[in-house]
Amino acid sequence: MMNDASGKLSTSAKAAPVPAIPMFEIATQYQGLRWEIQNAVKEVLDSTEYIGGATVKRFEEHLGRVAQAQAVAVSSGTDAILAALMALGIGPGDKVITTPFTFFATAGCISRAGATPVFVDIDPSTFLIQTAAVAAAITSGVKAVIPVHLFGQMCEMDALAEVCGKKSVMIIEDAAQCIGAKDSKGRIPAECSRAACLSFYPTKNLGAAGDAGAVLTRDSALAQRLLQTRQHGETSRYHHGFVGGNFRLDAIQCAVLDVKLNYLEKWNTRRRSIAGYYSQRFAGTDVIAPAQIPNTHHVYHQYVVRIPRRDAVRDYLQQNGVGSAIYYPKPLHLQECFASLGYHAGAFVNAERACGEVLALPVFPELTDAQIARVADVLLSFYK
Ligand SMILES: Cc1ncc(COP(=O)(O)O)c(C=O)c1O
Repeated sequence: MMNDASGKLSTSAKAAPVPAIPMFEIATQYQGLRWEIQNAVKEVLDSTEYIGGATVKRFEEHLGRVAQAQAVAVSSGTDAILAALMALGIGPGDKVITTPFTFFATAGCISRAGATPVFVDIDPSTFLIQTAAVAAAITSGVKAVIPVHLFGQMCEMDALAEVCGKKSVMIIEDAAQCIGAKDSKGRIPAECSRAACLSFYPTKNLGAAGDAGAVLTRDSALAQRLLQTRQHGETSRYHHGFVGGNFRLDAIQCAVLDVKLNYLEKWNTRRRSIAGYYSQRFAGTDVIAPAQIPNTHHVYHQYVVRIPRRDAVRDYLQQNGVGSAIYYPKPLHLQECFASLGYHAGAFVNAERACGEVLALPVFPELTDAQIARVADVLLSFYK
């Protein structure tokens, strides 16, 4: 695995020498489930039912039971957001509020739907969108808010739903990084919103063998609309009631995900315990552990610290065989493609500052206790 230019892990083979403790690796997990996954994939191959059909339905039902919502499997997390926006009728002339401190897809999809992203700042300790800033940004033309449950921690959904409900603004959750999480009141994705969008990119807490995603909703009319949206807006065979896309998820990916979903809770538990270990080691040091909202069920898709001299630390970790990554090095309001929106440096100080200070450490569930001890030892030795 390696980081591409956006800071996102890519599965490309050509990489710098793999450090002794990589930021992420999937081989160990795959080896443990190899026969189960290969059998499931073989069944699909033998069935020749590659698009739609029983395997897709089985995975959607399984995911729906786990997530307590209706699940519509789609081709990626990005397409989940785009399909949700399209299915909810958000388009030209509409504004959608979101955070500038997220993966590009969140805002990219707003633009692709023809709407305009409106950025608001994050909380400096949790990195999550500020509810008060959302409230202040709701002006005419704002149709929706996309909160991002960044790094595996959910935004406080009741507070956000109250703010949005009063102004008839829809909530679409970017839950790409938080499958299995709960907020401090036990709210889960899709409980307080129109829809929640999941990503099953291979490095996610639940990762496919390629690109994959899903939209969760508790609204059965919207679920029906999403099924049509992922199939070119087809309302009956060769009749298109509206324009959608090809956002279908292959049966082979559904077969892989159906197997792996059985292990999600165990993997999330291990991620939480690794995070707990790190936070205990970093208490009272120069390394600022990620803030966890009290009583929240954080699933640590990423364990992201803030540190002085971040880039020097990262080099030092690399030299000592410890992988790390920067999520995210550049806020979205300062991306070239959004220049026409007219934001400038200084617009969102918390997000901009986070971009210069954050460092993600390895937190994937297959890490051994010895490896996580070494990550903490090496990091803390920088400051000695
Ligand atoms: C916050 C966030 N939103 C959206 C996405 C897009 O998901 P995908 O890569 O599956 O298209 C990702 C995943 O990279 C993400 O982390």
